[in-house]
Amino acid sequence: MKCLITGSAGQLGAELCRLLGSEAIGIDVDTIDLTNRAMVHDVLVKMAPQAIINCAAYTQVDNAEDRIDRCRAVNAGAVASLVEVCRLLDCPLVQISTDYVFTGNPPAAQPRLEGDKPIPRGVYAITKFEGEKAAATWSKHLIVRTCGLYARPSHASAKNFVKTILRLARSQTGLRVVDDQWCTPSYVPDVAQGIAFLLKHCTSRGVGWGTYHVTNRGETTWCRMAREIVRFAGLDTTVEAITTAEYPLPAPRPPYSVLDTTAYHRLDGPPMPPWQDALAAYCEELREVEKA
Ligand SMILES: NC(=O)c1ccc[n+]([C@@H]2O[C@H](COP(=O)([O-])OP(=O)(O)OC[C@H]3O[C@@H](n4cnc5c(N)ncnc54)[C@H](OP(=O)(O)O)[C@@H]3O)[C@@H](O)[C@H]2O)c1
Repeated sequence: MKCLITGSAGQLGAELCRLLGSEAIGIDVDTIDLTNRAMVHDVLVKMAPQAIINCAAYTQVDNAEDRIDRCRAVNAGAVASLVEVCRLLDCPLVQISTDYVFTGNPPAAQPRLEGDKPIPRGVYAITKFEGEKAAATWSKHLIVRTCGLYARPSHASAKNFVKTILRLARSQTGLRVVDDQWCTPSYVPDVAQGIAFLLKHCTSRGVGWGTYHVTNRGETTWCRMAREIVRFAGLDTTVEAITTAEYPLPAPRPPYSVLDTTAYHRLDGPPMPPWQDALAAYCEELREVEKA
């Protein structure tokens, strides 16, 4: 299957290109700015992909608060253009979305289901939800919500929490990290496998389109995740638990955005390891990268 992957220089897009190999055609903003509707039409229709996985996004959550128009153009407007192309080509669209659509939901005792009503808060979350709604106007859509992505250590330009904590923990004796936001940080290679499976499953059967949650298993806070990173890295940096109120940021964060992945697992796709095992796999690969 000839599969167009947008955002191919980003964390998830790069991994999907790697996973799909010769089936993948990667594009990023330096090739086509997806906010340019005319160019999207011209170029993509000529490319005639058999599926599109949209990993492109405006992901700078805090900067988004000041760049509303740009963030909306990328996270929602570009999705509407991709839907137009998909209709013309009769081609499935996989729209990658986020746990942040639940930013405004009250803290829950249970992981969020695909059918739970999102209450997005903040420009990033609101525009990603708009992107979901645009994608859902096309019958052959998959909306895949994921959470707290961190790419392989070999992806040098990737920006993520694990890299930040490793960098800080290697240069400081103590860190302060929020301990009241619950989620499931997820390793990009695991999520990419899940997305590729979902696309092939729905394409081959012609059914199953809709929304899925794909993350590693379990739940944690950023503070607990940071402690695990420090432990795996063999560092003795202390990690002090603080509250969200003690670490104010421009954009709101979800207090509880653990995603229920039962619907994904019911399809018998690649199993998702617990977040601790995924982090261990990352650290193992990091040792290899640093040795090389
Ligand atoms: N990162 C997370 O923790 C996380 C969590 C949950 C869900 N998600 C979602 O997962 C998806 C992938 O995230 P990621 O971490 O891989 O993001 P990423 O590393 O920021 O990659 C996104 C890519 O899209 C590109 N892009 C931005 N604007 C574009 C435009 N107008 N036209 C074409 N390409 C454009 C970016 O280029 P520039 O870098 O040059 O802007 C970047 O290469 C996104 O939909 C995101 O919302 C991410």
